[in-house]
Amino acid sequence: MKRELHIDSATVVLGIETSCDETAAALVMGGNDVLSSVVASQLDIHARFGGVVPEIASRAHLESITPVIDEALTKSGLGFDRVDAVAATVGPGLIGALLVGVSAAKALALTLGVPFVGVNHLEAHLYAALLDDPNVEFPMLVLLVSGGHTMLVEVRRPGDYKIVGQTRDDAAGEAFDKVARFLNLGYPGGPVIDKLAKTGDAQAVDFPRAMLNDGLDVSFSGLKTAVINYVRKNQTAKTSDIVASFQSAVVDVLVAKTMRAAIDLGARTIAIGGGVAANSLLRAEISRSCESQDFRLVLPSMAMCTDNAAMIASAGWHRLNLSGGSRMDVGAYPNMGLSVEMA
Ligand code: KG4
Ligand code: ZN
Repeated sequence: MKRELHIDSATVVLGIETSCDETAAALVMGGNDVLSSVVASQLDIHARFGGVVPEIASRAHLESITPVIDEALTKSGLGFDRVDAVAATVGPGLIGALLVGVSAAKALALTLGVPFVGVNHLEAHLYAALLDDPNVEFPMLVLLVSGGHTMLVEVRRPGDYKIVGQTRDDAAGEAFDKVARFLNLGYPGGPVIDKLAKTGDAQAVDFPRAMLNDGLDVSFSGLKTAVINYVRKNQTAKTSDIVASFQSAVVDVLVAKTMRAAIDLGARTIAIGGGVAANSLLRAEISRSCESQDFRLVLPSMAMCTDNAAMIASAGWHRLNLSGGSRMDVGAYPNMGLSVEMA
């Protein structure tokens, strides 16, 4: 039997995330009170292949989804009877992986008689910043930097976004992963480069800062090629110096573009999100720039930067509030963009 749903600060959303290589579930109340957040990472399974293997990811999600949801409920201290809606990522992501979460969420929603909410993974990354700091002032400029996406998004208010800049080729995380793979540093590349760069000299190699003074778009594929060419010509160069110089080039561009966009748009707040937002140099440099230019900065915790289901539940709460639940025939959309509206 369907329950009447009034969305407010007591509304509890169960969020489910299975778009890539993390199986995650979380309970969030009122859009920003995280009652529990459980993430089962498949990193170890995929590491030996040097990247995510889609079929293996789908199977691992199938094995983990029920225990992960159970654990999220147990940790929240609530029973299924307190779940008011079930939200799941419907895109973008790997089709087989997405379908595991979407199917589980729809089945649960039907069984419990509550709404199902399809969530855009990119929109959820925007809300992740608000989870740690819900009282931000709009307009907010978000630098969203993950393994699959790099974009600057103007958020005028929840649900009202505009992409003002994006990558012309590789995503920032993809550049970290590709450079790490070339240097045999393992997968994912971001965390290992971040750590190794701390022992290197960021001035050692003057890698290109593509499009630094040219609009708000970015490009990282030339930088990746420059690193590869440099290493081939300088076989004895220290790996720590190379990755420190590479990381510094990425961060210089990301910070410069973010600050320019924030000034151009008259943003009140700047936030960062996505896996690369866990990068220690990016966090330090953007903090420094925001302080010197008087911008309020929202730096999500590391756990809220990388993929998790609390951000899905939060985005689900906002979606419910803005437009209600999704139709049950909503599917999974591997190439979904930020602006695509769902039924
Ligand atoms: O947002 P996310 O968890 O998954 C996607 O939606 O893509 O981001 C994963 C990406 C990977 O490319 C990974 O190398 C990168 O985030 N990453 C980092 C760091 N931690 C994760 N990149 C730079 N520095 C880090 N500390
Ligand atoms: Zn993500």
